[in-house]
Amino acid sequence: MDGNGRWATRRYLPRVAGHKKGVDALRHCVRHCGERGVKVLTVFAFSSENWNRPPEEVSGLMELLAVALTREVPHLKAEGVRIHFVGDRSALSEKVRAGLLQAEAATAGNTRLVFNVCFNYGGRWDIAQAAARLVERGEPITEQSLDAAMGLAHVRDPDLLIRTGGEQRISNFLLWQAAYSELYFSDKLWPDFDEAALDEAIADYARRERRFGRTSQQIQEPVAKKAA
Ligand code: FPP
Repeated sequence: MDGNGRWATRRYLPRVAGHKKGVDALRHCVRHCGERGVKVLTVFAFSSENWNRPPEEVSGLMELLAVALTREVPHLKAEGVRIHFVGDRSALSEKVRAGLLQAEAATAGNTRLVFNVCFNYGGRWDIAQAAARLVERGEPITEQSLDAAMGLAHVRDPDLLIRTGGEQRISNFLLWQAAYSELYFSDKLWPDFDEAALDEAIADYARRERRFGRTSQQIQEPVAKKAA
């Protein structure tokens, strides 16, 4: 969800105002995913590296998370959304940690859309913590065991990875899980990434051919056989 800061700066507003607007965009995005039949949405809300931002921006984001939880969880609950937080919680305040647990418990019975919020998350952190857990348990490190120890083990790998804000890089998001994801880069700043923009990204995804290491002919053969 990149571009909140620029969205605010262009309007001579503090950066936190952009993050506030980002929460509005996120609310619309979650709702639209539910309507479009998307089963899993995972967002990058705060990275392991975001601690390096100015202290007022970091505390603004923590505050925003606390406010958003209080305000949004009843709606998420009513809309069939199950929320999960993924990331290192040890560095978060007691209050924020309690809020995350409460939100997860309140929506645990929902099945319409799984909504993962990556908070104090980094792809490298996730791989390292998964490996450390396996070592601690004395289990062998394999692709399968690592995969099962990751923060996102409860969902399948993402089909589509969207980055807004014009940059074309992954910035330590879902390094393991995005191995075969289709990448989509939008120049829109996150607060401007509306339902139509999401539809455009989904339509673009629908035109891609996913080969997973196979040839184009292998992918098309079953379809050709069926038609014959
Ligand atoms: C990146 O934009 C965005 C973030 C670091 C925060 C994203 C957070 C939200 C959208 C709010 C929702 C989060 C919560 C609290 C649940 P940027 O600040 O790097 O933008 P810039 O590249 O224009 O400076």
